[in-house]
Amino acid sequence: MTTLRLRPEEPADVEPVRRVVAAAYDRPDAGAPPEVGLVDALRGSDAWLPGLSMVAEWGGEVVGYALLSRVRVDPAGWPALSLGPVAVAPHRQGIGLGTSVVQAVLDAATEFGESLVVVLGDPAFYRRFGFEPAARLRLTSPWSGLGDPWQALVLPPEVTGASAPPAGEVVFPAPWSRV
Ligand SMILES: CC(C)(COP(=O)(O)OP(=O)(O)OC[C@H]1O[C@@H](n2cnc3c(N)ncnc32)[C@H](O)[C@@H]1OP(=O)(O)O)[C@@H](O)C(=O)NCCC(=O)NCCS
Repeated sequence: MTTLRLRPEEPADVEPVRRVVAAAYDRPDAGAPPEVGLVDALRGSDAWLPGLSMVAEWGGEVVGYALLSRVRVDPAGWPALSLGPVAVAPHRQGIGLGTSVVQAVLDAATEFGESLVVVLGDPAFYRRFGFEPAARLRLTSPWSGLGDPWQALVLPPEVTGASAPPAGEVVFPAPWSRV
């Protein structure tokens, strides 16, 4: 039986993660997807949080990936998390791995006592985790103009013990200017 294993990234996963992200975000007639460089740049930055870079192994092969990294909500300077990239190798998409690896990294963030996660993506995929339009929480960003794809999730305060996050502008660190 093929087994699914969800676990934090280890040093040996750097290359497999590059391959998964490159394959998932590959576009015909485009060069290397910027999401690959984004992961590498975040890994070398202050925004990187050990334990919040999660891989999905299927049959012993790394085929899925989800990353949470540090952002902040100004003017309060409130520490929050940004979800992405999220990637599943094309030959393993559609069997629940994306859902599993995202849920795993959100569960880890909850255990760490984090309060807020933001994401830019298709609500059809992200609403299953409880994400809602970030505008409802009065959170803005350079992507606010895109509407509903700009989303946020308040992690369960009864578990995290965190206070309610403030409204404000979500500020992304420099590596995000690559995408
Ligand atoms: C998005 C992605 C991570 C989903 O991974 P996956 O393992 O295929 O997802 P799952 O099998 O868990 O699918 C869960 C559901 O999400 C839906 N879904 C998958 N990809 C989706 C997408 N890009 N947009 C909207 N819905 C999507 C599936 O149809 C499925 O719906 P269902 O539960 O109603 O059947 C994967 O398709 C991928 O790597 N895509 C390319 C990179 C990308 O777009 N990343 C996300 C950027 S926002």
